[in-house]
Amino acid sequence: MAEAARMFRIAVIPGDGIGTEVVSEGLRVLDRLAADSGGRLAFETEVFPWGCEYYLRTGAMMDADGLERLRPFDAIYFGAVGWPGVPDHVSLWGLRLAICQGFDQYACVRPVRLLPGVESPLRGATAETVDWVVVRENTEGEYAGIGGRNLAGRGAGREVALQSALFTEQGCERIIRYAFDLARTRKRHKVTSVTKSNAQQYAMTLWDDVFARVAATYPDVETESWLVDAMAARFVLRPETLEVVVGSNLFGDILSDLGSALAGSLGIAASANLDPERRYPSMFEPVHGSAPDIAGRGIANPIAAIWSVALMLDHLGLDAEATWVMRAIEATTAAGIRTPDLGGTASTREVGDAILTSF
Ligand code: NAI
Ligand code: MG
Repeated sequence: MAEAARMFRIAVIPGDGIGTEVVSEGLRVLDRLAADSGGRLAFETEVFPWGCEYYLRTGAMMDADGLERLRPFDAIYFGAVGWPGVPDHVSLWGLRLAICQGFDQYACVRPVRLLPGVESPLRGATAETVDWVVVRENTEGEYAGIGGRNLAGRGAGREVALQSALFTEQGCERIIRYAFDLARTRKRHKVTSVTKSNAQQYAMTLWDDVFARVAATYPDVETESWLVDAMAARFVLRPETLEVVVGSNLFGDILSDLGSALAGSLGIAASANLDPERRYPSMFEPVHGSAPDIAGRGIANPIAAIWSVALMLDHLGLDAEATWVMRAIEATTAAGIRTPDLGGTASTREVGDAILTSF
């Protein structure tokens, strides 16, 4: 008897700029997997038109009941938000951060890996030396949104702003535990914690204390603690020593862009915003933004978005399918089919086509 079909419901938010261009390519990959499965797999997608254009039309980045409508889905596939004419903090808080925080997607996982045929700006870099994962706390820290502007109403030229970081023991513990569990699945069992405890003496020493306590319960995992400024240099100078790097919301954000540049381009960096407890849908998206400088030209690299599909498949328990997608991406970069950000001349669609024909 035929295996029962497995159907996954995916909410799709293409967003703005190249978000819409790269998400189309990711959806073609899902269609292909379903078509090749002989009825075993199906992805039912619903597209939500939220983003900056929606904001300019309606005054809101997403509908007021947006989270309720997303909640029943198995996963969310997201492009990018942000467009000139809408302040970036409005677009980011109104959509992406609203979803990450609303659904308590506390683990942001961003692999950094040099793909075959891709040149790193690092001299002598190889697939062995550039291969680590940044685990970023995704719900609190420096992006807790606590503060205010012009608190005393002092008038022009004398404005005051206060932006506070929120660190809770539970928030630190769950992301650090996630990093340790992830390290156990990697070739080296090693976690590097990144803080700035010399300057940030309250919040980041709390993080350090939790890290030490959690580390004691994973005796098989090697650990180290580094300050973020030194870590930025180490990404460049000794990348081969990195395996799982865990840090706060801000530090993880910055270090993952640095990592993606070292792996060849922001256009290949994928990410998962996970609720590891699966109380809510998790969200999968390229690390990059809407890239207004190249939007509409059909030259955005779709690999970050397609790699994010692989992370989504993995989360949905479709490990074999995730592996096929990664192999198809690798075959495409190895064959030299690359968009301009990687030094090639191929279009978004041509790279998408090449990935589909590599299945
Ligand atoms: P960006 O990531 O959009 O672009 C930075 C640079 O990388 C640009 O030169 C761009 O052309 C290039 N780039 C990015 N993705 C690429 C791809 N797939 N293929 C080829 N080149 C690529 O960051 P930027 O310019 O700082 O921000 C633009 C807008 O995106 C802003 O409104 C910002 O707020 C928003 N943004 C949104 C994010 C999200 O939705 N998760 C993340 C980062 C920025
Ligand atoms: Mg970022």
